[in-house]
Amino acid sequence: MNILKCPVCAGNMNQQEKILRCENNHCFDNAKEGYVNLLSARKSGDTTGDNKAMASSRRDFLNKGYYEPLAQAVCDCLARYSDDGGSVLDICCGEGYYTAYCAERLERDFYGFDLSKNMVRLAAKRKCGARFFVANIASIPVRDGAVQAAFHLFAPFHAPEFRRILSDGGVIMTAIPGKHHLFGLKQALYDAPYYNDEKEPDAEGLEVVERVHVLSEITLGSQPDINALFQMTPYYYHTPTEGMNRLQTLETLTTPIEFVLVIYKKK
Ligand SMILES: C[S@@+](CC[C@H](N)C(=O)[O-])C[C@H]1O[C@@H](n2cnc3c(N)ncnc32)[C@H](O)[C@@H]1O
Ligand SMILES: [Zn+2]
Repeated sequence: MNILKCPVCAGNMNQQEKILRCENNHCFDNAKEGYVNLLSARKSGDTTGDNKAMASSRRDFLNKGYYEPLAQAVCDCLARYSDDGGSVLDICCGEGYYTAYCAERLERDFYGFDLSKNMVRLAAKRKCGARFFVANIASIPVRDGAVQAAFHLFAPFHAPEFRRILSDGGVIMTAIPGKHHLFGLKQALYDAPYYNDEKEPDAEGLEVVERVHVLSEITLGSQPDINALFQMTPYYYHTPTEGMNRLQTLETLTTPIEFVLVIYKKK
């Protein structure tokens, strides 16, 4: 059964050939890449979100497997917390690296959405068997209780919507940057770098069932890879020129990567 609901009337949806149609006949065309735009305002977040170049830079970086330890941990948790054939949703899926990683390894019904059409287009091009759609996290076009497991990586948190879409006994997991995450990058950028504080989001109505720690070390072997990683971080937007110049002289960079995967169920 399709987990989606109509963004106009909240009716159930059915896929008919290339058209997704609700029970009240509102229609949404599949784009040629295979995704569907379910933003009721018909406006994607591409003007405020990542542009096309940033989206493909993120894809190329992730495709090299630098963050595979996190993808593997998400996949292992999904295997433990959902059943064969269950519905899994990647919330703010970006260009779909993690969705595809898991969809290629687990027999589940995978869905992913993001506000950015550029991102969703790249995700759909992965042809991983997941269904991708454009939507806003503040109003997810998914039926109440329809999702058995969801994951949510490095994006805005919206506890009321997460709670609404989860089935009874369903889980949602989110990733928090761990204490040592990217400390090697921060050492190159700043004279006195701080450790991360592992602050968890405000998750009202949800309770933590497990925390999974993921710790690894990566070596970036080229300036373009170092720059791509830098662009993916918040430091990109507030680093003094001196630190940026220092980073641009490096040909390799070794850094720990560390995440805490926090898994919640409904209270
Ligand atoms: C840092 S990226 C992470 C993408 C992906 N989860 C990953 O880890 O590769 C954050 C994503 O959140 C999306 N996003 C931001 N605000 C959003 C919103 N209100 N609704 C849906 N997606 C949103 C952005 O378009 C972007 O793709
Ligand atoms: Zn409708």
